[in-house]
Amino acid sequence: MRNLGFVHRFEPGVTDARPLLLLHGTGGDENDLVPLGRMVAPDAPLLSPRGKVLEHGMPRFFRRLAEGVFDEADVRARAHELADFIASAREEYGFAAPLALGYSNGANIAAAIMLLRPEALAGGILLRAMVPLAHPEANGGLAGKGALIVSGARDPIAPPQNGARLKAMLEGAGAEVDHRILPGGHELSQADVTLARAWLQAQAAGVPAGP
Ligand code: MLT
Repeated sequence: MRNLGFVHRFEPGVTDARPLLLLHGTGGDENDLVPLGRMVAPDAPLLSPRGKVLEHGMPRFFRRLAEGVFDEADVRARAHELADFIASAREEYGFAAPLALGYSNGANIAAAIMLLRPEALAGGILLRAMVPLAHPEANGGLAGKGALIVSGARDPIAPPQNGARLKAMLEGAGAEVDHRILPGGHELSQADVTLARAWLQAQAAGVPAGP
């Protein structure tokens, strides 16, 4: 398997289902979200890169200056680098623009790609996401695309209010965004899988997921 600029894993799908781009959280790797991806979209091709930034040896997708304080120049550079990787992987493996399924730091870089390179992704499932850039350039590049943001009500890292700001930012760029708040914290639960599956199925059918 060619590296294409990122250590990555590619799992072919069994149908022409929308591919998923899996983006792990801090300290994860390309294997982490494969089981989640399979639960959310059993038939989809899965493309799963490993973040290149190391924080005390833990892979991430961009540098941060402190918890919740991002190095925005690095966010921008890394978002473009990952969007270029998606384009190379699409050529190599032959699939349509993927939908991001990101957790925590992976959800944040997915949001940055949606804002900076809207053509790279078909949309995103952003689990415990935060606003990745204070002032992204305004554009309508996300028109016709959707995102699901799932926050945890007691999440001290990515509080629901921050998820709500991200919803407004993505909507400002033209996306249709569903923001759900689960009772837990930063960790994922079965409820995330249920929400993600329902949202994905509704997207595939072209209807809103409902309450
Ligand atoms: C980030 O740094 O992207 C967020 O704070 C989430 C995390 O990785 O802990």
